[in-house]
Amino acid sequence: MTVTAQDVDEASARLDGIVGASPLHRSPRLSDLTGLDIWLKREDLQDVRSYKARGAYNLVAQLSAAERAAGVTCASAGNHAQGVAFACATTGVHARIHLPRTTPRQKRERIATLGGSFVEVVVDGDTYDDAAALSRAYALETGATPVPAFDDLRTIAGQGTVAAEVLTQLPEPPDAVVVPVGGGGLLAGVLSYLRERSPDTTIVGAEPAGAASMAAALDHGGPVELPEIDGFIDGAAVRRVGTATYDAVRLHEPRMVVVPEGLVCVEMLDLYQTDGIIAEPAGALAPAALRQDLGLRPGSTVVCVLSGGNNDVSRYAEVVERALVHEGLKHYFLVDFPQEPGALRRFLDDVLGPDDDITLFEYVKRSNRETGPALVGIELQRRDDYAPLMQRMSHSRLHVELVEPTSPLFRFVQ
Ligand SMILES: Cc1ncc(COP(=O)(O)O)c(C=O)c1O
Repeated sequence: MTVTAQDVDEASARLDGIVGASPLHRSPRLSDLTGLDIWLKREDLQDVRSYKARGAYNLVAQLSAAERAAGVTCASAGNHAQGVAFACATTGVHARIHLPRTTPRQKRERIATLGGSFVEVVVDGDTYDDAAALSRAYALETGATPVPAFDDLRTIAGQGTVAAEVLTQLPEPPDAVVVPVGGGGLLAGVLSYLRERSPDTTIVGAEPAGAASMAAALDHGGPVELPEIDGFIDGAAVRRVGTATYDAVRLHEPRMVVVPEGLVCVEMLDLYQTDGIIAEPAGALAPAALRQDLGLRPGSTVVCVLSGGNNDVSRYAEVVERALVHEGLKHYFLVDFPQEPGALRRFLDDVLGPDDDITLFEYVKRSNRETGPALVGIELQRRDDYAPLMQRMSHSRLHVELVEPTSPLFRFVQ
């Protein structure tokens, strides 16, 4: 069973007057950067600051009277919970929402505000999977209906209303639509609608490089659990995609791309500092994908779904750090300093360029009386300053080792 364009139209009718249409804004910055005609679908401007109310409302609004009386439950790291809270407050259905302890405070507070007296929030478990297990147990015990974040045809049809709206907002169907992919609900909905209603539109699914679970599913011929993921792009860092979402993706064959987390951070900063848009990491995933070559004809009209804006301000320090590393402007080294007066001064004089800045200096351990390794972070003004820095290091008498971003040691600096 897959979702049809008709299912999405029915979802649009249900949502009418309840979940507002989000604006479609042209992005002069991304258009200039890419040579494409880029339009941002601003799901960050929804009441719940993401597209998630669409799928949640479409599901809750279809429950029978008995199901409504038994209530619903879900697990979420934040955005889906806001969608469910909104849907339940609007329909008067009780929800038990399970959040892992890692859920940012900003999201917890928004869930409570949106849900009011209809929503009971339980914060428990170290990971999303723990919270999901608790939600499943609650459903079995009480008969509450689970509201899946992506693996349900009603959720998928609701998310597909994003694409239905786009076709009413542009004079011609776009040449391409770029959407972020976590469990694949949004992608499956957009595909199901556009393949019927605008078959010539290219659809691109963008996954985080550190959690490319849809690419893995396509490789293996079915959903598989990724052993390790980078959880930074929290909305879209999913270990295993859904069965229904995978079926839609396999059937409609979108173009899939992976986007490095650092590039998402670069785009988040441009959105913030140039465009004045607060995007959360998953929200910036599709715009960041445009910075890679997607094989689109120059001048193509491209709609890019900016899917969410629930960012906690405390995350920007890590965003800046990851962006600098991605752009080759920040590097970390292990330097063996001889334990003698003047060693540090010599390092500064001989190795550091005039515009290079030390951002971190920490002795790791004083292993013996002769040398002590230190972790040194250096920020460059320009990427071109890197080669001369490395050359000066190789000429210095000190033993210096570059800490690669892929090295396990790197976790200590981020
Ligand atoms: C802002 C945002 N973008 C994208 C996604 C990925 O969504 P999906 O699971 O529908 O692929 C999520 C999921 O929570 C999200 O919150």
